[in-house]
Amino acid sequence: LSRGLASSASSFAPIKHVTVVGGGLMGSGIAQVAAQSGHEVVLVDINEKVLEKSKAAIQKNLSRVAKKQFKDDAAKGDEFVNKSLNNIKLSTDLPSTVKNGTDLVVEAIVEKIEVKHKLFSSIDDVAPQHTIFATNTSSLSVTEIASVTKRKDRFGGLHFFNPVPVMKLLEVIRTKDTSDDTYTTLMAWGKAVGKTAITCKDTPGFVVNRLLVPQLAEAIRMMERGDASFQDIDIAMKLGAGHPMGPFELADYVGHDTTNSIIEGWHQKYPDNPLFEPVKALQKLVKEGKLGVKAGEGFYNYK
Ligand code: CAA
Ligand code: NAD
Repeated sequence: LSRGLASSASSFAPIKHVTVVGGGLMGSGIAQVAAQSGHEVVLVDINEKVLEKSKAAIQKNLSRVAKKQFKDDAAKGDEFVNKSLNNIKLSTDLPSTVKNGTDLVVEAIVEKIEVKHKLFSSIDDVAPQHTIFATNTSSLSVTEIASVTKRKDRFGGLHFFNPVPVMKLLEVIRTKDTSDDTYTTLMAWGKAVGKTAITCKDTPGFVVNRLLVPQLAEAIRMMERGDASFQDIDIAMKLGAGHPMGPFELADYVGHDTTNSIIEGWHQKYPDNPLFEPVKALQKLVKEGKLGVKAGEGFYNYK
């Protein structure tokens, strides 16, 4: 089978079929942007209820995009929504999905290395040779995630930002083993789904989170010290620094389980770095299940 743009020295070919694993906050957004840019998408989750919720969220967010892009032509807007939705299939059977032929697997499941290892181990032998594996991890080492596979050259990081349909950046993480073809394919796919892709090394937090997460943590410590209320810190960063959301609004938006496991994971690996010191108020929210917007409560109440 000839694969499109391939030259004799390169197996570079555009991605057509994408498998997105994890139908949560990020996976549903990734499936949406892939589908609305014309890719065939299968969205996989272990939980069927999550998949139904994802599809409803995607439909709602596609309508927001349609309203903007086709404001003078409602019929074209409806066509865009339907066409994009038709590009998405749902499944709870990852090995079969991958076996049936997919060009790219984007993993967006829980931020736990052992769970990600289990997932990639389960599909490495059944996936077609050419299939590229990618992880949307926020904070784990892409090299370590890839280590359980036999396709380290066809493995990279694709780090999207929340909300995926709105945030224009994509961090493409290239490990020492990622081949030139894989890197080129991932950068081109980022552009194809409408993002501006930057190149990152496999360092903790890549670019954005390495700067953002310590800032969120310090804002919470500032509240813990009693220097200012969390509401005032949010007002300060919005009106004084021009941020679209204050750090507490943003932490609620990202999800405290995600942010907390990022900080705890980095602390375990780099115990001497004071920027990565665990944050008590964050640990307490996680224990109480107050995970932020997705749980209806975090620093703020959304119920
Ligand atoms: N899907 C599609 N469109 C959406 C959307 C979604 N999920 N969410 C918002 N929008 C659209 C709205 O329709 C709206 O469009 P118009 O301007 O054309 O009307 C636009 O986005 C703005 O939305 P809102 O008016 O509802 O709200 P807003 O102006 O307050 O913006 C926001 C919302 C875009 C989320 C903005 O507050 C923002 O940029 N916040 C910061 C987000 C951020 O920093 N994200 C990164 C988090 S870190 C991360 O993701 C990495 C990690 O690993 C943890
Ligand atoms: P989430 O909790 O909203 O969704 C995770 C989903 O994965 C859940 O629906 C769960 O049912 C599913 N899942 C768990 N194990 C699975 C498995 N073995 N197979 C299939 N599905 C499985 O989490 P999220 O916020 O979407 O984060 C997902 C990933 O993206 C994490 O690695 C996170 O660090 C990263 N990320 C998060 C953000 C953010 O702002 N939340 C931003 C960028 C990257």
